[in-house]
Amino acid sequence: MKLFFFREENHFTFLEEIMKSEFSPLKTVRVWSAACSSGEEVYTIAMVLSEALGHGNWEVIGSDISEKVLAKAVKGTYPIERSANIPKKYLVKYCLKGVRGKSGEFILKNSLREKIRFLKINLYMEIPDIGTFDIIFLRNTLIYFDTDTKKQVVNNMLPLLKKTDIL
Ligand SMILES: C[S@@+](CC[C@H](N)C(=O)[O-])C[C@H]1O[C@@H](n2cnc3c(N)ncnc32)[C@H](O)[C@@H]1O
Repeated sequence: MKLFFFREENHFTFLEEIMKSEFSPLKTVRVWSAACSSGEEVYTIAMVLSEALGHGNWEVIGSDISEKVLAKAVKGTYPIERSANIPKKYLVKYCLKGVRGKSGEFILKNSLREKIRFLKINLYMEIPDIGTFDIIFLRNTLIYFDTDTKKQVVNNMLPLLKKTDIL
């Protein structure tokens, strides 16, 4: 499956809105992209958080069951045509165009990457101690599971979601 940046863009508009209106700059905002595949969702979240909150108090964890996709995510390098959905202001600020051996590609800047951690996690098994989160993205993943697995995954993940009354 081809994944892309800013997939279902309204989710990220909403993320930006709540970051600006609901979150205190004094607290560290923690976001988990729980089945992040090759990283497009993680970097999209990170760009939005950086824009809303600056370089300060936030971090993103990206996880997936597959080491193969995680290796791509960690690399943070994509074919240039995959940048089509990234708004210009983010492209200029957070992406670098590859040159010479890397022409035809773009890479996410280190300033963004240093705020992100990638981990191998099977959501169906006991989740390792990764702390709690203000927001968890679990998009386009539960659809692949049967009902019992869906319940198990949600039960595993819910305790990691901080309690809030903003939604
Ligand atoms: C379609 S991708 C979703 C990517 C991203 N969330 C998005 O919406 O753009 C589904 C991902 O779920 C991962 N996955 C499948 N079963 C999993 C499990 N038990 N634990 C963690 N990740 C799993 C797959 O490896 C795949 O990368």
